[in-house]
Amino acid sequence: MTAPLGPNVPVAVLGAGTMGIGIAQVAAAAGHHVLVHDVAEGAVTRAKRDLGQRLMGSVARGSMTEDAAAGLLDRITGCDALAEFAGCGLVVEAIVEDLEAKRATFRLLEQILAPEAILATNTSSLSVTAIAAGLERPGRVVGMHFFNPAPVMPLVEIVSAATTDPAVADLVHATATAWGKTAVRCASTPGFIVNRVARPFYGEALLMLQEGMADPSTIDAAVTGAGGFPMGPFTLMDLVGLDVNLAVSTSVYEQTYHDARFAPSVIQRSLVDAGRLGRKSGRGFYGYGPDDERPAPAAVGSGPVAGPVTVHGDMGWAAGLVGRLRSAGVTVDQGEVTEVAHLRYQDTVLVPTDGRTATELGAVRTLGGAVVVLDLVRDWETAEGVAVAAAGGAPPSALGAAAGVLGAGGLIAHPVSDRPALVLMRIVAQLASVAADAVMEGVAAAGDVDVAMRLGTGYPAGPLEWGDAIGSAALAAVLDRLHAYYGLERYRVAGAIRQASLTGGPLRTIERGHRL
Ligand code: 3HC
Repeated sequence: MTAPLGPNVPVAVLGAGTMGIGIAQVAAAAGHHVLVHDVAEGAVTRAKRDLGQRLMGSVARGSMTEDAAAGLLDRITGCDALAEFAGCGLVVEAIVEDLEAKRATFRLLEQILAPEAILATNTSSLSVTAIAAGLERPGRVVGMHFFNPAPVMPLVEIVSAATTDPAVADLVHATATAWGKTAVRCASTPGFIVNRVARPFYGEALLMLQEGMADPSTIDAAVTGAGGFPMGPFTLMDLVGLDVNLAVSTSVYEQTYHDARFAPSVIQRSLVDAGRLGRKSGRGFYGYGPDDERPAPAAVGSGPVAGPVTVHGDMGWAAGLVGRLRSAGVTVDQGEVTEVAHLRYQDTVLVPTDGRTATELGAVRTLGGAVVVLDLVRDWETAEGVAVAAAGGAPPSALGAAAGVLGAGGLIAHPVSDRPALVLMRIVAQLASVAADAVMEGVAAAGDVDVAMRLGTGYPAGPLEWGDAIGSAALAAVLDRLHAYYGLERYRVAGAIRQASLTGGPLRTIERGHRL
């Protein structure tokens, strides 16, 4: 076991933006004296003032003592010149995402710091190998990638460049752990783990918006209400910054030589061009001014359920709906088993999504009723709402009847246009597919991919374990249908999912691919 840097070793942070000051807070909370430098005059003072206010908020909420907050602030010192970093054992760089700027800074730091000092970069989108290239001691350069907000998100990705000395990666891993974070290892590849695997969370939501399936607040509600994510994709993009999110998407897309799954969104581009960068500019997908109110998500009005609900066949991952309805006092009778499992209420049939649109399912004769498709739900006990789509030609009363059944179980029905796999299933299937490919390509081990997604972005489950819960065959069918409907390469099925759909093997045990 490698020992971490002792708390008596000073740490330097370069850049006093959101990430820089957050990282400084983490290191100072672990007892280090932290020096912070920023080229912009007054930036460190402003960042420290904001940090002070946040810490006072924590004191007021009782999650920190006044002494701890004051001690933490005392350990963070702004400095005017890089030369003051001379005695630091570790520098974490969080400056602008510009390769040349980072290289030039690291060249300077090499002249200032002791030879054994570690140069860590918090880059989210550049190659750590490229940053290290041309330095005198590329073995000392490593990625130390935190997540926004850095003091809160428990993950740090330890990114090894092709040249990183394994002992340096071990030391930084041990240090991040000593700072109270969970560290995962990965290779310097486009987007590392989280920023690669998370792309569909944003990208699919943006495509849904682009094709008019629903508005941001309805899509966000369908993702959080049915999936248990802490934030919907549009709320999260507003937090991270649309410019940062677009830069990461563009970089991953370009570094993968235009893998269609990572294509950036034209909507996001135009919002960034318009200066709508999210919370930090006061407006992104939502407004953050004092008078701004977040639009309510669309919801189908529903009346009471009058008459029997019957279940037909094995509802698979949607079986929990029957349990939820029964515990809410709804009588659900067992009906005959049909080709497509569903719930029937009067003339309406509710079908859990299998990737077919409601209109396609409407042509299945054995269903015999107005079809409403139900989106994926992760945990039926805690779900608050779920997306629904009615078949073209179904009477307007069909959505209302479906909403009545869901409402009887305490669930809100969010209407979206009739597209394959609706909202959550489409996002989760793509997340699992990109995650499976990342493991096959040797980016990281399967277990680390799942841990990284749970802790770096607060996902309620890792995409591979979640994929296993849905089942590889069901995932492959969903992706095949998305592929057929849109004709887009982005929906190709990951090789490991195709394989697992045939063998039945779990995705979370896929072996990490070989790396040079
Ligand atoms: N900065 C600092 N601290 C913050 C914060 C912020 N922006 N937001 C919340 N906090 C702190 C609060 O002060 C509070 O501290 P306390 O316990 O000491 O009082 C604590 O976090 C909890 O606050 P809330 O009760 O308001 O928190 P919520 O329960 O609403 O959770 C959240 C907030 C942790 C941000 C949660 O919504 C979440 O996990 N969201 C997902 C965030 C995510 O996915 N981040 C990764 C983005 S991708 C990325 O960063 C990669 C990059 O390379 C682009």
